[in-house]
Amino acid sequence: MPEIEIRESRPEDLAALEALYPAAFPDEDLLPVVRALLASEPGILSPGILSLVASVDDELTGHVLFTPCGLSGSPARLAMLAPLAVAPQWQRRGIGKALIRDGLDRLEQAGVAHVYVLGDPAYYRHSGFRPETAIAPPYPLPEEWRGAWQSVSLGGAPKPPAGTLTVMEVWMQPALWGP
Ligand SMILES: CC(C)(COP(=O)(O)OP(=O)(O)OC[C@H]1O[C@@H](n2cnc3c(N)ncnc32)[C@H](O)[C@@H]1OP(=O)(O)O)[C@@H](O)C(=O)NCCC(=O)NCCS
Repeated sequence: MPEIEIRESRPEDLAALEALYPAAFPDEDLLPVVRALLASEPGILSPGILSLVASVDDELTGHVLFTPCGLSGSPARLAMLAPLAVAPQWQRRGIGKALIRDGLDRLEQAGVAHVYVLGDPAYYRHSGFRPETAIAPPYPLPEEWRGAWQSVSLGGAPKPPAGTLTVMEVWMQPALWGP
């Protein structure tokens, strides 16, 4: 396996990302959300986002976004991981896991305490995520998706009080939270 390079995305990555997302998600158009987030304030959370790309020999092979979140009554810095995409021909070679690991390391260094994700628990448990029951997602999930709402705590941070996560406006679309 050639070396995977992970770095923050740059404006010139957009064309490659516009090819990556339809290939990784043939049944879902996440590009409007990705474009909107990449056009938002840059920076490592609060108020910016964290956008990382993976490349192998200068070929863009994967992308992950982390966006800032909030919780009423909690000063803790929180983030949500979404979306994550690895080019089909590069899947199952550790790229997704490397993007998550790099992102969580950067977030921990930036003082983020907890990171949330809605996704397949069979996949995200490999990166330390566990089902989250105290902090609710912004929209109620269908029963069969309950185990898909997960979190990981960074740096031994204590769990925040129960509540409902607030997310960036671009995520406030019910269609993004249901089958
Ligand atoms: C899901 C996805 C991001 C995984 O990326 P990847 O680079 O193929 O995954 P990795 O090779 O880093 O796998 C990391 C671990 O998860 C396991 N794994 C990979 N895909 C898996 C899957 N679909 N289900 C369960 N486990 C999986 C690997 O075996 C590996 O295990 P290990 O830690 O014991 O070695 C990628 O397949 C993808 O982009 N899929 C389409 C888009 C998508 O579904 N994105 C996620 C949205 S929530």
